[in-house]
Amino acid sequence: MDLYEYQARDMFEAHGVPVLAGIVAHTPEEAKAAAEKIALDSGNPVTVVKAQVKVGGRGKAGGVKVAKTADEAFQYASEILGMDIKGHTVHQVMIAQGADIAEEFYFSVLLDRANRNYLAMCSVEGGMEIEVLAVERPEALARVAVDPAVGIDQAKAEEIVDTAGFAAEVRDGVIETIKKLWEVFKQEDATLVEVNPLVKTGDGKILALDGKVTLDANADFRHPDHVALEDKAAADPLEAKAKENDLNYVKLDGEVGIIGNGAGLVMSTLDVVAYAGEKHGNVKPANFLDIGGGASAEVMAAGLDVILNDEQVKSVFVNVFGGITACDAVANGIVKALEILGDSANKPLVVRLDGNNVEEGRRILTDANHPLVTQAATMDEGAAKAAELAHAAK
Ligand SMILES: Nc1ncnc2c1ncn2[C@@H]1O[C@H](COP(=O)(O)OP(=O)(O)OP(=O)(O)O)[C@@H](O)[C@H]1O
Ligand SMILES: [Mg+2]
Repeated sequence: MDLYEYQARDMFEAHGVPVLAGIVAHTPEEAKAAAEKIALDSGNPVTVVKAQVKVGGRGKAGGVKVAKTADEAFQYASEILGMDIKGHTVHQVMIAQGADIAEEFYFSVLLDRANRNYLAMCSVEGGMEIEVLAVERPEALARVAVDPAVGIDQAKAEEIVDTAGFAAEVRDGVIETIKKLWEVFKQEDATLVEVNPLVKTGDGKILALDGKVTLDANADFRHPDHVALEDKAAADPLEAKAKENDLNYVKLDGEVGIIGNGAGLVMSTLDVVAYAGEKHGNVKPANFLDIGGGASAEVMAAGLDVILNDEQVKSVFVNVFGGITACDAVANGIVKALEILGDSANKPLVVRLDGNNVEEGRRILTDANHPLVTQAATMDEGAAKAAELAHAAK
């Protein structure tokens, strides 16, 4: 889960990372009140109105504006709220205390899957897009491997800071800050903690002015407090429904709904359907949905319910390889699921069963003779049929 900047700011503050005041606002009135409060508390009337969207490049898109007065904060908030930034609508802004920036730096620590390790990246050239810096001037971006068993201790922090080439006057401040950012990464079970920009202020202080944090959902059980960080309103309603039913579902942008058992089989089903779709009006898979090992009627019904409620879906391909859960159980699951769903099941289903007890499974479907169900003998045949049906219904 990605956090909003204001949530990252609060998390940083809780771990002792130096940040400035920041208050979330949903209306221009709230923005003005927040700017007045920050000005009063800090003695500095300058604030920055920042769009809160989970996408980079807000500044360039006009979503970050410096306000010299609370009235200006009101004005900018009314412009930024409702703005579309790369397909994300701005529903909230953060009013941040204005910083007197002397220099901008970059720091991040992340899970480096390819190297099965953690990686710290750091640069004295912050502010600009780090992807651009990494390509155009890779020598300006220090990349230092971090041993998970050791983390960023004093020695590692010194190595990072010295590789990046920080000036002596900011060295200690940056070392202290990145040690604290490591604590955020470790204690919160993050896979990414990024600060761009990390700044030096006019009076020589180090501050984290913008934060991106991605939390590892696999560690959610260790962090009951992270539930509150979820933005239920912004989540896709179908993905939310799937999550409630413990289904492994990812919405995609196509017309053929997919249900399979086992992540590997579902992944290859996506490929086969995309390939078949090329011959049928370029239809594509509409989702990833792995119903896992136990394809009971309830699980099948929950899966079908999610997929059939996706308006883009025109046909569904159920591709199951019977293993521990035999094909007859799956077939019964499909028949019962269609009963449970009744009239809300209204799109053609192509079912391919293979594996344990396949004859019995196919017989059950043949006997049920449901008008929406077509059987396919192979995965390729099923994919072609489902793509053809989706194209015909488009
Ligand atoms: N509190 C602040 N005070 C003064 N200037 C700020 C403050 N916050 C941000 N800025 C300035 O605005 C620039 C952009 O801000 P920020 O990094 O938060 O957004 P962004 O980089 O455009 O967004 P993203 O990180 O999502 O790509 C910063 O590089 C900094 O120069
Ligand atoms: Mg930034």
